[in-house]
Amino acid sequence: MSPAAVLTVDGHKETLVDYSLVPDLAIVDPSLTASMPPTLTADTGVDALTHALEAVISIFASSYTDALCAQAVRLIFSALPRAYENPHDLAARTDMSNAATLAGLAFSNAFVGTNHALAHAVGAKFGIAHGRANGIFLPHVMRYNASLPSKFMPAPGYSAYIVPEKYAQIGQLVFGGHEPDDSRERLFHAVEQLLDQLDMPRSLQQYGIREDEFLAALPELALTAFEDLSNRTNPRMPLVSEITTLLKLGYYGETTG
Ligand SMILES: [Fe+2]
Repeated sequence: MSPAAVLTVDGHKETLVDYSLVPDLAIVDPSLTASMPPTLTADTGVDALTHALEAVISIFASSYTDALCAQAVRLIFSALPRAYENPHDLAARTDMSNAATLAGLAFSNAFVGTNHALAHAVGAKFGIAHGRANGIFLPHVMRYNASLPSKFMPAPGYSAYIVPEKYAQIGQLVFGGHEPDDSRERLFHAVEQLLDQLDMPRSLQQYGIREDEFLAALPELALTAFEDLSNRTNPRMPLVSEITTLLKLGYYGETTG
């Protein structure tokens, strides 16, 4: 139900975004998702979470898309572990279908960000499912975006860097907390906890990509990710050097600073 389509062409992902792609009618039937295996449930659920967590800090975010993101995030944290554990939990499937649709409506207007740029490049190169690739980068890109940028993304109406505040708001809504820093950390921690609960690989190394293969591909991956359309609505304008650092964090996971 969104204006976006991503195609793999000659080993690269090409993103198409045009409102002519939006269907006149979309039927979202949760019962059709009951036959999805747990890995596909986890991958698509983490993709929806990434849509909401990127759209909410996009330079195109508005109060309308923020509302969609907030409810999507709330639903996903509650329903995704249940849908993963029990594929036939129809209440969990219904919440996940609604959450994915809400997040889809949000990114149809606010678009996504650098997490998707990294996931597209790495997913195409190593044949990793989209949501799985998103999950590997999500903890790192959230922290990257929540710190002050070396280069701001120029955008009309985006005059102050509000990412730390936006993530604190979502954290407060879903996980409480007394201070903004506390709420934001609770959100970051919950994302990592959810990924672990879903048995998602937490690094490309853990996924099974060889180090020499990764390092050989790194310069090209950095350029591919840098040129990805998804960066255009990211609040931080990522430098190629920053993209390279994020790719390395995605490869080594949390053991490397
Ligand atoms: Fe996605």
